[in-house]
Amino acid sequence: MLEFEEGRKGLRRLIYSSRFVGEGDFGEAVRAIVATSIQNNRLVDVTGFLLAGEGLFLQWLEGPATAVEETFARIARDKRHADLVTIADSPAERRRFRDWNMGQHRLGAADQALLAEVGLEVFNPAGLEADRAERLLLRVGERYLRSA
Ligand SMILES: Cc1cc2nc3c(=O)[nH]c(=O)nc-3n(C[C@H](O)[C@H](O)[C@H](O)COP(=O)(O)O)c2cc1C
Repeated sequence: MLEFEEGRKGLRRLIYSSRFVGEGDFGEAVRAIVATSIQNNRLVDVTGFLLAGEGLFLQWLEGPATAVEETFARIARDKRHADLVTIADSPAERRRFRDWNMGQHRLGAADQALLAEVGLEVFNPAGLEADRAERLLLRVGERYLRSA
């Protein structure tokens, strides 16, 4: 019952990974996706972060439960990616990315240390358990906050 109440009234946080299978350049696709996401998410009060690298995505979505569900349903139908793996999906106490309707970072060579912090040599988000996926996204997000 409590879970139902939380899910209905409260925030939901969902983390998933996927693989880019769209046509054309990955970087261009990421830019287009983020632009659309910022616009759409703002309208339904969804916030989050998209980490992209090696042709792979790791995304955090948070907001009102119904809005997250509807947004994710749309995302899951998107032909630009495949192999979606839900890594975490639960009620959330508070937002962690409230300043971003969709923050984003493209992983590059300079991010090796960041990956190492969560015990990764390469970016393989599909194999991440919830705890490490969460830490990785929060670490990347923090950097942007610090440099803001
Ligand atoms: C990796 C990835 C992440 C996405 N994230 C979002 C998002 O956070 N919010 C959103 O509205 N659309 C997101 N999209 C785009 C949606 O899949 C979809 O194209 C967009 O919402 C427009 O939907 P519509 O064509 O049905 O209007 C994402 C797509 C991909 C491939």
